[in-house]
Amino acid sequence: MARKKSILDLYKMKEEGEKLTWITAYDFPMASFAEQAGMDMILVGDSLGMVVLGYKGTVPVTMEDCISHCQAVRRGAPNTFAMGDMPFGSYQISDEDAVRNAVRFLKESDMDAVKLEGGVRVASRIKAISEAGIVVCGHIGLTPQSSGALGGFKAQGRKVSGARDMIRDALAVQDAGARMILLEAMPPELTAFITELLDIPVYGIGAGLPCDGQLIICGDMLGLFQAFTPKFVKQYANVAEICVNAMKAYVDDVKHSAFPEDKHVYHIQDSIEDFEKLFDEFR
Ligand code: KIV
Repeated sequence: MARKKSILDLYKMKEEGEKLTWITAYDFPMASFAEQAGMDMILVGDSLGMVVLGYKGTVPVTMEDCISHCQAVRRGAPNTFAMGDMPFGSYQISDEDAVRNAVRFLKESDMDAVKLEGGVRVASRIKAISEAGIVVCGHIGLTPQSSGALGGFKAQGRKVSGARDMIRDALAVQDAGARMILLEAMPPELTAFITELLDIPVYGIGAGLPCDGQLIICGDMLGLFQAFTPKFVKQYANVAEICVNAMKAYVDDVKHSAFPEDKHVYHIQDSIEDFEKLFDEFR
């Protein structure tokens, strides 16, 4: 069994140019699959709102949802570096509130780190949580919790003015004490520049190759999430199709009495005559 990576291992990977692999998971089986696959890191993303809970966005997701899913993930992947995603409302109100909620991820669900969205505007939150001794991952670019304010799920930093904001955000996240940062949906030229500029590991989702590792949403890469597929996703399997086809076959079997077969039933251990006598007692 592989030893769980620590933040120091992640830094060593960056130093040695080894790319980090990172996936979201929300429940026991998915976390267990990720660990069996040798994933370096798991994010219990608030994307669980869309992928698992059926919401249109991430905003309705609560701390209770996140804690419960983080607990399931930890049970499924006890030896993988795992990160809880701070849901909308859990860090917007005050530094104190942000620390209180970040602490819950460690105490109640044994997470190794927390992630929160935003750059300059959340710098004081990152500082407060980091000073409480918690590993923080920043998240800039397309930040789904503020997709309303961004005008939708849109790539960021494609023009110079937007790119300047991204660079300022990245520096603010690092200066505030975050130990790593995620760039979402931005051009690779900007990703390369930010990765070069910062000392902390820089990971990307929809941000191209030139960074220290990649995150992918399990629902997207496995073809579980059917509402839409972002441009940056590579789909490695179509699990939804496998599920629907399997369920159709089951429906067909049951309708035609083809399931259960003899091999699926428990056989009596006394004679049929003895069973007939028993049934007669109740007739
Ligand atoms: O919740 C999540 O899975 C995320 C990714 C979209 C980066 O924050």
